[in-house]
Amino acid sequence: MWLRSRLQLVPVFAAVATVALGLFTVPDSGGPTSAGSARSSGTSRPDTRGVVLAVHGGAGSALIREETSPEKEKAYRDGLAGALRAGQKVLRGGGSSVDAVEAAVRALEDNELFNAGKGAVFNEDAGHELDASIMRGSDQAAGAVAAVRNVRNPISAARLVMEKSRHVLMVGEGADDFAERHGLKPVTQDYYWTQRRWDALMKAKNPGRPQTKASRAEDEQAMGTVGAVAVDRRRDLAAATSTGGLTNKLAGRVGDSPIIGAGTYAKNDTVAASATGQGEVFIRGAATATISNLIEFDDMDVTSAAREVLIERLPRLGGDGGVIALGPDGEFAAPHSSQGLLHGYLTADGTIVTKIFLDESPPGARGR
Ligand code: GLY
Repeated sequence: MWLRSRLQLVPVFAAVATVALGLFTVPDSGGPTSAGSARSSGTSRPDTRGVVLAVHGGAGSALIREETSPEKEKAYRDGLAGALRAGQKVLRGGGSSVDAVEAAVRALEDNELFNAGKGAVFNEDAGHELDASIMRGSDQAAGAVAAVRNVRNPISAARLVMEKSRHVLMVGEGADDFAERHGLKPVTQDYYWTQRRWDALMKAKNPGRPQTKASRAEDEQAMGTVGAVAVDRRRDLAAATSTGGLTNKLAGRVGDSPIIGAGTYAKNDTVAASATGQGEVFIRGAATATISNLIEFDDMDVTSAAREVLIERLPRLGGDGGVIALGPDGEFAAPHSSQGLLHGYLTADGTIVTKIFLDESPPGARGR
């Protein structure tokens, strides 16, 4: 209670979990620490810079500071920070941005707070089908799986598709079998089960039913999906996204998360982007590829391009959500039209920042 009442009194900065984790080697000359973006439409305010890794934990209703217990706040911040630390360890050791985004997303998939891997939402038939994709910016290689039912970490299956097959997208049983053949130990459907997702399914099927505390919590992340973007010391970008989809979705429904150019995109010259929100609209709007195209062909900076797509274009198609977008020079933006977007980032000096409350990143914000 003490912490909670203090948090209500102090400004946003006090609630932002900023953890100095020591010096982190960044790309050499011209790397993410260099100021400014080479591309600028001149229309956007400066955004967060010097970012080397960012994650999101879904878009949806915002977490309200006054209604959030210190325990719940800590759980969300720890979840995001833990994913950032997993990626940071990889980058510090000289690993690639692909390694970093996979490590970060695996951490989120293993955390049942988030709608991916353990903690994925239920389909209308009370089963789970999971989607994920990963993309490497240096050569635009990509891999994705959709509607898998027996993979603990779908992002690793997506990476296997990218690296061990001649395909980009594999679905259903074939994708499950492929992942197992390449060394991923299968899990049963029970693995994904959580009480809060079950309560959310029951609520979706019986909207008049009184809400439990757990199902109210589920509402807060109604569109939850996880993702990561990174730039490594070679200035190579990567992006990854993973999700259980939407509560009560039809069996067989696939959202934007495994669709390259919708939920995930990475191209070294432009941007690494991972989206969360109403997948159908992100597919129709080719969300992340459009951000890249606006940078490449309309000379926009990362922030302006991400805002244009998330705040202007997708709402016109009837969909809300958010995106994390990272340029090769470390420019970072996290605009969202949904009320909230759980996200966090790691800067080149080793600082971790997490943003979970509405007042830390209001709708339409640039992600600061
Ligand atoms: N954006 C996640 C989904 O629609 O499945």
